[in-house]
Amino acid sequence: MTRRIPVGVLLSGGGTNLQALIDACASPTHPAEIVLVLSNNADAYGLERARKAGIATAVVNHREYSDRVTFDAALQTVLEDAGVEIVCLAGFLRILTEGFVEAWRDRMLNIHPSLLPAYKGLETHQRALDDGVALHGCTVHLVRADLDSGPMLLQAEVPVLPEDDAATLATRVLYREHEIYPAALSLLASGRIKVEDEVAFIDGVPGPKRLTMAG
Ligand code: GRF
Repeated sequence: MTRRIPVGVLLSGGGTNLQALIDACASPTHPAEIVLVLSNNADAYGLERARKAGIATAVVNHREYSDRVTFDAALQTVLEDAGVEIVCLAGFLRILTEGFVEAWRDRMLNIHPSLLPAYKGLETHQRALDDGVALHGCTVHLVRADLDSGPMLLQAEVPVLPEDDAATLATRVLYREHEIYPAALSLLASGRIKVEDEVAFIDGVPGPKRLTMAG
């Protein structure tokens, strides 16, 4: 069997996306292996999910660092010590420095709850509802220093229903996040992503690949 790529997941909260990644990587055919779950928040339920799955955990509390540079350096040390080669951000609520982001260029993924480039930042579901859009969704992208930017790999569409509020819409988007995040990690870990001029090519086809409502 070919070597599985060691992955570190960074999170601050509940970690349902982490769970989707854990479940997918449990398959022997998935090319990635989660070797570390790292949180800035010792109470994050995602750490408990990792422990239950027998995955190593670490806490780096941002409050113990005087600035972002020293905090990110501590993250980097923990990731390197664990042998991590790909980083997945999964609800990690800290802004990362440009130096850290560049150190992981094209090796760090993020999941965002909108069809980027629409609705970068927070409260994406409410903003989509306020605008009356018919189509919402989620995106997995490679991370760049600018917030929620970078070459996009996969997107999944979610229709906005007349009766939706931010909570119901978020639930349906999250369901699709759990599909595309493990799939995008698989593409990256198996070397099927090449970046040219800030476009991610998947098996030579320019991304993002968009999963429609039907599939
Ligand atoms: C998700 O909405 C994800 O899109 C965003 O942070 C949230 C994390 O949720 N980046 P969970 O902790 O994975 O449940």
